[in-house]
Amino acid sequence: MHSVAAHALDEIAGATGLDGLEAVRALYLGRGDGLLTIFRKQLGAVVDPQARRQLGQTVNELCERTAKALEERRAALEAAVRTRQLEIEALDLTRPAPRLCRGSLHPVTKILREVRRIFAQLGYSAASGPEIEYDRYNFTLVNMPPGHPSRETQATFFIDEWRVLRTQTSPVQIRSMIQHGAPQRIIAPGKTFRRDYDATHFPMFHQIEGLCIDEGVSLGDLKGTLEYFARSLFGPDRGIRFRPHHFEFTEPSLEVDISCMVCGGDGCKTCKHSGWLEVLGAGMVHPIVLRNGGIDPEIYSGFAFGVGAERLAQLLYVIEDGRLVYENDVRYLRQG
Ligand code: PHE
Repeated sequence: MHSVAAHALDEIAGATGLDGLEAVRALYLGRGDGLLTIFRKQLGAVVDPQARRQLGQTVNELCERTAKALEERRAALEAAVRTRQLEIEALDLTRPAPRLCRGSLHPVTKILREVRRIFAQLGYSAASGPEIEYDRYNFTLVNMPPGHPSRETQATFFIDEWRVLRTQTSPVQIRSMIQHGAPQRIIAPGKTFRRDYDATHFPMFHQIEGLCIDEGVSLGDLKGTLEYFARSLFGPDRGIRFRPHHFEFTEPSLEVDISCMVCGGDGCKTCKHSGWLEVLGAGMVHPIVLRNGGIDPEIYSGFAFGVGAERLAQLLYVIEDGRLVYENDVRYLRQG
């Protein structure tokens, strides 16, 4: 009995965790079959009352001593756990605070401001229109009537039968023509929406539409204006080319490319080995569109262009995956 108790005390002293300690308690003092508990149960079998009392006292003493040792060890182990916890959670109030970073403008904001500045120099004022737009303004009046296949190319968010989230800033052209007539020169920067999402397309993006209407405006004026714009934004050394294209609301239509900023025009992955990157779409405003805007195409002519702000940011700041533009990762934004 004494040696069992001695073992118990040894094991208690050697327990290194609360779980281990609990196992030792169960082994020796467990209710039914603890190695010390059993002695107490067997007391009844001792016939001599004197001897029974003596034995009982000894069993009790041993059990109490073991229980006390268990309690002390438990307290010590719990204290150790607490100390360790405090060490882990310790706050070092003398450590220097993390550096605060200055905010900066979002690349798209910078592009919008810069484009507005460049065109302000050419006498263009800024116009705006609603983001929830009538189908009629977004499509029909810019020569994309119901059922026209070109509507398919602008994956549209529909609000109801008559309204959409505008897929382009071109409806601002029509609104501005109806409101201000001719002559006029505007740019219309704003949010546009399409059901697209990949490395170069976002469901929400910004277009900047330009419109110039006057007597005798020619394709030469359009080319000169866009060349001035591209050189102002991308610098004088970048190659620019005009490529015939098709838009419903302009005739003739063209697209503008600049030489690839990654390879300098030699051909690489970014420019799909062509050396060129598409920047904007443009053309001479279609007579039907002028008429829809209440302007007489026999007297006036005009050009329009549309350019994506995210696209410009990608090209200007060499951003391979355009999704970064809206992920708001501070490491990216900090470079601004
Ligand atoms: N709105 C056209 C588009 O989203 C771009 C464009 C605007 C082309 C104005 C020509 C003139 O594709």
